[in-house]
Amino acid sequence: MTITDIRAAFLAFFEEKGHAVIPSASLIPENDPTVLFTTAGMHPLVPYLVGQPHPMGSRLVDAQKCLRTDDIDDVGDNRHLTFFEMLGNWSLGDYFKREAIAWSFEFLIDRLGIDPRRLYITVFEGDNNAPRDEESIGIWQSQFEMKGLAAEIGVAGTDIPATGADGARIYAYPKGQNWWNPAGQTGPCGPDTEMFYDTERPHDTAFGPICHPNCDCGRFVEIWNDVFMEYEKTADGRFIPLSQKNVDTGMGLERMAAVMQGKATVFDTEAFTGIFSVIEESSGKRYGADEAADRSFRIIADHLRAATFIVGDPRGMVPSNVGQGYIVRRLIRRAIREGRRLGIEGLFVASVAAVVIGEYGGEYAELETNRTRIVDAMADEETKFRKTLEKGLKQLEKMMQDRVISGAEAFDLFQTYGFPLELTQELIGERGGNLDVEAFRTEFAKHQDLSRSASAGTFKGGLADHGTETTRLHTATHLLHAALRKVLGEHVAQKGSNITPERLRFDFVHPTKLTPEDLKAVEDAVNDVIRADVPIDREEMTVDAAKESGAIGLFEQKYGDKVSVYTVGDFSKEICGGPHVTRTGDLGIFKIIKEEAVSAGVRRIKATVTGRV
Ligand code: ALA
Repeated sequence: MTITDIRAAFLAFFEEKGHAVIPSASLIPENDPTVLFTTAGMHPLVPYLVGQPHPMGSRLVDAQKCLRTDDIDDVGDNRHLTFFEMLGNWSLGDYFKREAIAWSFEFLIDRLGIDPRRLYITVFEGDNNAPRDEESIGIWQSQFEMKGLAAEIGVAGTDIPATGADGARIYAYPKGQNWWNPAGQTGPCGPDTEMFYDTERPHDTAFGPICHPNCDCGRFVEIWNDVFMEYEKTADGRFIPLSQKNVDTGMGLERMAAVMQGKATVFDTEAFTGIFSVIEESSGKRYGADEAADRSFRIIADHLRAATFIVGDPRGMVPSNVGQGYIVRRLIRRAIREGRRLGIEGLFVASVAAVVIGEYGGEYAELETNRTRIVDAMADEETKFRKTLEKGLKQLEKMMQDRVISGAEAFDLFQTYGFPLELTQELIGERGGNLDVEAFRTEFAKHQDLSRSASAGTFKGGLADHGTETTRLHTATHLLHAALRKVLGEHVAQKGSNITPERLRFDFVHPTKLTPEDLKAVEDAVNDVIRADVPIDREEMTVDAAKESGAIGLFEQKYGDKVSVYTVGDFSKEICGGPHVTRTGDLGIFKIIKEEAVSAGVRRIKATVTGRV
């Protein structure tokens, strides 16, 4: 089965089970300053998992674009992908364990045709906070029994037979493995049950004497995770049963494709064939011929695929030195350095992006829509970086005059010109010089800590949190947007929004700096609506009906068939996922604290609400 077949089969299967197919949300989370990218299918759904009604109902299914950048510098093995698609189905207070597990089993065994003997299951083993997940164990056992297989509980420390036979296939693990934590410090959480596929590759004792589903030796591949959000973690650390119990599942699409195609790694699936061909043409090398070169192939393919999706996103970012733009820059530059290792001399980055657009443009139309932006941004970054590399080489030649380069100098090459240690070592080696490596490593470790905290963030989901302040500022953002359109004109359109409990930040299209009179008129318009204490109404309707009713929204983004529209009297009407306060009187005095340029034709306003009007 191809990736396209598996994606389509998953969506169709859950549609048959009464789920609404929703489009992938943006890779760049809306209104969420806590994390740079969408990291899981559930991430854009957090508001609905904590109780907001979803316009498409209580059963949802999608394929979500995800990006994980915990440490870009570690990517390059044969398992990890920076960008990937996650298939998921959700129950928002609807069905629970029985249906979720039965459908997972049915999809894997009856639809995909996986041999049940090769399926292994893990569940939560229980602790002081929450009991062992006996319910899931019982449901799994009855599923396997229907296929004539006894599914016993595995005992930790005993080996699993080399080929799937009757016997133990359910293993219990502690919270570290089988518990999904709340999005923030508090909130919905619960046990999960994970499905593993037995590749039947022999166990590698380098990873421990005994193989088990969570062993990292590669015999077992995790293919799906069903999370049962049945507890609320309270501020004092207790776990109390939730009134709305949710199901949140996640299946890595590329990994599932590798399993279905009997491929050893995700890089052997068709997701990478076209990209590898471009790299082969540019480098004159072949993928699969040499272990070290393969690593470079994988890094280039992974990083440029990810960069294409980030730049091509409806809320896409081009390479820069901040936020998501900085991640795109690092991805592209690392790919170029790996290209250099493969001996690529010409430009190749934009050609790889064109292949990704060609392959994914059908499923993710935004890539086609934004083709020019993607190709131009990639080509531009490659040209810039090549110039930087040349300058760095000149600098290195200068440093090499006394044949020894200090760790600090090597770090300067990394910091200023993007030369990683291996590249500097290679270049110095070619020139017969020496490096003092430890000092570089110390500097680099400091840098990595900083870059990790900048790129990973703490995943909270939705807004920075769902606290009162953030929710008030979210409503204030709608009022600001409407006021700007009234004062400046209807050309004003949202370009970005970032809300923390302390302030809102709103980027919008407008050609010139706002005058003090403009700013005052905007503030006054917002404060008048706040003073009038207007109720905020929420309605569900189709996108077309929303457009017809005059609602504003990010129409370049794909919406589901039905959307929520928030209306504030006749002042503001916007398509939005919430949450919002119930009346404008719940806000305090609205104050603009800063107005500045972001880029040509885009302005930024930071504002607060304080006290009460
Ligand atoms: N949210 C769960 C995961 O990402 C399903 O694994």
